[in-house]
Amino acid sequence: MNILLIGSGGREHALAWAIANSPLTDTLFCSPGNAGIAREAEIVALDLDDAAAIVNFCKVNAIGLVVVGPEAPLVAGLADRLRDAGITTFGPGAAAARLEGSKGFTKDICAKYNIPTGAYGRFGNETDALSYLAEHDAPIVVKADGLAAGKGVTVAMTMSDAEAAVREIFAGRFGAAGAEVVIEEYLVGEEASFFAICDGTTAVAFGSAQDHKCVGEGDTGPNTGGMGAYSPAPVMDETVSRRTMDEIIKPTLAAMAAEGAAFQGVLFAGLMITDTGPQLIEYNVRFGDPECQVLMMRLKDDIVTIMLAACSGTLDKVSVRWHDTTALTVVMATQGYPGDVEKGSVIGNLDAASAMDGVQVFHAGTKRDGDDIMANGGRVLNITAEADSVGNAQKLAYAAVDTVDWPQGFCRRDIGWRAVEREKGSA
Ligand code: AMP
Ligand code: GLY
Repeated sequence: MNILLIGSGGREHALAWAIANSPLTDTLFCSPGNAGIAREAEIVALDLDDAAAIVNFCKVNAIGLVVVGPEAPLVAGLADRLRDAGITTFGPGAAAARLEGSKGFTKDICAKYNIPTGAYGRFGNETDALSYLAEHDAPIVVKADGLAAGKGVTVAMTMSDAEAAVREIFAGRFGAAGAEVVIEEYLVGEEASFFAICDGTTAVAFGSAQDHKCVGEGDTGPNTGGMGAYSPAPVMDETVSRRTMDEIIKPTLAAMAAEGAAFQGVLFAGLMITDTGPQLIEYNVRFGDPECQVLMMRLKDDIVTIMLAACSGTLDKVSVRWHDTTALTVVMATQGYPGDVEKGSVIGNLDAASAMDGVQVFHAGTKRDGDDIMANGGRVLNITAEADSVGNAQKLAYAAVDTVDWPQGFCRRDIGWRAVEREKGSA
């Protein structure tokens, strides 16, 4: 069948790579795409805000499946518009995408359905938010309710930081995304990303990963979209994974169905594994980026078959198996990220890195200019390696990183440190 993939990041390159390898795929189209995705798919220029134009493209090109990568079009209701037009689409509609689009909505669902998460308050004005703070102690976490590109969260170590964050949000720093504020209990433990593919009623566990959000080594410096990841996350052992499915994912799926907003697509739970078990930090309604890259490396079964089963409500009939390996991805970013970056530097030797056994180079912000591949944003490449241990995957990924010739780029040198230490400890 013909498939249309929406998105342009490293996540979408990994999805494009997996979808292009499916025996079910005839032609894969992608919009907006990037220079790496162009190797797997035919790039098409579509206006992602113009659902009617996307529907029309799907009809003209006999698209049998649309896969929506990022959250913004899902929260805006693109999947609803496509399904209304009879087009099979992987991803939640707007009502279910509120799990990512509104942190307050998710906290209310957790409270109503007894899903483990930190205590919280939800406020529509500064005075009420500040009085709540006055009754609590630091550390405490302040969040803009809506989509803020990962920048709307302040983990406040002092009450004055918390108050400043509240004032900043109500002063309009995040626009409409900051019309409400959620203040929540600071959870202590190890963080992990957990994924489930859902068809509205059935949820199938779809692997775990750990991200590295800080820009600097040793988890220092400002937060980013993610500087590297590995899968599986050792902290998500069988017991913790089962508890996450039973206590968090399945109750959420049942809750959403009961609320008339059945969830279909990828449910990505950001978890804190605390002393008493897994607690939900937040939901995303799409794959993680860069977590998707490591999941796609390890997936043994066909991604298109799994996505189609999610669309048709038949997930109970598919298998999801993984290679018994660790995959690790290192993000190479343009110097200056997560601040302003200069676009247009040329990246050399990419083919040599891609040709290494066990390595895939997924592109994020890249652009082709003649024979050159150029940096076209902050996060630019995801150098991804698969091996029999996290230590070996780390070595292989950095060997590939060192093959790339790109003086204007940088990466963290310690991706996977937590799992490598754990592995050494148990050796
Ligand atoms: P988010 O954008 O909601 O994923 O938050 C960004 C980061 O802030 C998370 O990855 C956590 O490291 C941290 N964080 C968010 N909420 C909490 C919480 N309730 N307790 C501790 N850390 C948190
Ligand atoms: N890597 C975190 C995210 O995709 O939200």
